[in-house]
Amino acid sequence: MPPRVVKKPTLKDIKSAGKIIRNGGIVVFPTETVYGLGANAYDPEACRKIFRIKKRPSENPLIVHIAEISALKKIAKNIPPVANKLISKFWPGPVTIVFKRKKTLPDVVTAGLNTVAVRMPSNKIALALIKSAGVPVAAPSANISGAVSPTAHRHIEDDFRDEKDIDIILAGGNTMHGLESTIVDVTRGRPLILRLGAVSVEEIEKVLGAKVRICGDGGKILSPGMYKKHYRPRTPFFVFCETGRMKEFLKTHQASKIGVLAETGSIPSAMKNRRLYLKTYRNISELSRNLYGWLRDFDKMGLDFILAARVDERGLGRTINDRFKRSATKIFGD
Ligand code: TXA
Ligand code: MG
Repeated sequence: MPPRVVKKPTLKDIKSAGKIIRNGGIVVFPTETVYGLGANAYDPEACRKIFRIKKRPSENPLIVHIAEISALKKIAKNIPPVANKLISKFWPGPVTIVFKRKKTLPDVVTAGLNTVAVRMPSNKIALALIKSAGVPVAAPSANISGAVSPTAHRHIEDDFRDEKDIDIILAGGNTMHGLESTIVDVTRGRPLILRLGAVSVEEIEKVLGAKVRICGDGGKILSPGMYKKHYRPRTPFFVFCETGRMKEFLKTHQASKIGVLAETGSIPSAMKNRRLYLKTYRNISELSRNLYGWLRDFDKMGLDFILAARVDERGLGRTINDRFKRSATKIFGD
């Protein structure tokens, strides 16, 4: 039996899902970034179910979702002024902040670290669910570990068709940003971005009035879940440093069945053929919103390859390039 899906959930549906969470169940819910697989963060058994369902390594901690600032004080300590700036500008919204933690949450949530990642989502269903649950909600992205994150409820049905431990899926349409939250660690002096995400580095720096550090820029990996290989489609995915090289590849592989993520107008009509499938975007925000859905669509088509070209390394383009790097089978021209 596939998990039950509630489309267009009413407040009554959301309240009963909140009760499911409070009582140790698992609820999939939409956020403005990607769908989450939620459990009561105070319930170690429920949180363990999340790791099993996702096949997630136990050393990779979960983000704790809250609906009110008062909940933060119960789980985090030493909240620095930079965090307050981020909170007042971006919460509710797609920024996750890593704080020193109080010992109120079970170790399974934080994978035994002395920090906790917290976020207040802006999606109305998510907020109402957390409020109704009356507890903080631990929730990773609702996908099998290492695979592409879900941005529509059908993605969860695809991944977890026979999953008995998911009690309910609240459907909320396509997610607004289509990329995960930006994670900022405020526990190490100058703020450190652990994961690029739906809010750009430039926006964060503007609010803080200072430069931030970015994890991976020469430093060691500090976020347990920032694996080099992640967000991977099953089809070989080739990323090109320039569109020119991608076109060369298309010319030499005319017999192959290929899916391309392409900027509108970048593939000349002379190159189009029956075995070429295009998903086109006019700008970076259109690509951000659709990237994961398109990779999943392509994955179902039995293609030989999926191709994409790197985008400008600014704004959300930087997040996209990061996801390309982690999800690519091979990068051409690096
Ligand atoms: O947009 C999002 O953040 C989505 C929605 C559902 O809220 N959630 C999400 O969760 O992307 P997940 O579990 O797929 O990714 C969370 C990342 C992981 O890389 C994890 O290692 C990192 O956050 N993380 C969690 N707690 C941490 C901590 N205390 N210190 C450093 N990194 C942490
Ligand atoms: Mg994830």
